[in-house]
Amino acid sequence: MEKTYLQKIEETADYIKEKVGKMPDTAIILGTGLGDLVNHIENPVELDYANIPNFPVSTVEGHSGKLIFGALGGKYIMAMQGRFHYYEGYDMKEVTFPVRVMKALGVDKLFVSNAAGGMNKEFQVGDVMIITDHINLFPENPLRGKNYNELGPRFPAMTEAYSTVLINMADSIARDHDIRLMKGVYVGTAGPTFETPAEYEYFRVIGGDAVGMSTVPEVIVANHAGMTVFGVSVITDLGGKDIKEVPSHEEVQRAALTAQPVMTLLMKEMMARI
Ligand code: HPA
Repeated sequence: MEKTYLQKIEETADYIKEKVGKMPDTAIILGTGLGDLVNHIENPVELDYANIPNFPVSTVEGHSGKLIFGALGGKYIMAMQGRFHYYEGYDMKEVTFPVRVMKALGVDKLFVSNAAGGMNKEFQVGDVMIITDHINLFPENPLRGKNYNELGPRFPAMTEAYSTVLINMADSIARDHDIRLMKGVYVGTAGPTFETPAEYEYFRVIGGDAVGMSTVPEVIVANHAGMTVFGVSVITDLGGKDIKEVPSHEEVQRAALTAQPVMTLLMKEMMARI
């Protein structure tokens, strides 16, 4: 018989528990710009996605991604290196499956990072932006369909999708370390196209500060599951009607690298303080 969604989550969580033993209460999804953070995880235990039952199969050859368990900033955590994007063709249940599994493992705090294009006129390439809120412009909500009351409510509130306590903590870390830290609203879109100048303008007018192609599905599911969430974006390019630069994947990668030291410091400090 076909396994149900709940059975798949349990099966995957059981596999991970058996392989790793000690389970964390905090998870980090490493987006572009936080790749280096894995090098700071002490005594890592790694699981390849390819070996984890029910995990989506990677579309990028040779880069299946992995879960890494270990200590960061003195805190025992798990990190997800490599995420599943909607634009790759995964459905929303696949994109958010790892978050369901994290919750089943006992994780109640989720940290997410990504690369994003900036619409806020104060932003510069290489800036780090704490996500204070989001606007979901994906064509589909990950909670569409049957609701499992075991996982969360049918109509979950999204009034504090990003924890105020954690935003304030990041603020105080920025002050202590003299880091330039921006704050703003993240607009989540399906991609894979970058925006037209008119689209960047539209996203700014509706209240967005930055736009990207990830994060929102995972954060919706984490909130549904009652998790506390912290999100951060690296501003890798700027968009708007007066901006002529053409964003490219290479530019995004380059700008994300520039911001890497600040991102790493911020996340490590957050782990030390929570
Ligand atoms: N738009 C959408 N996604 C992005 C961008 C952008 O300008 N930059 C990095 N990810």
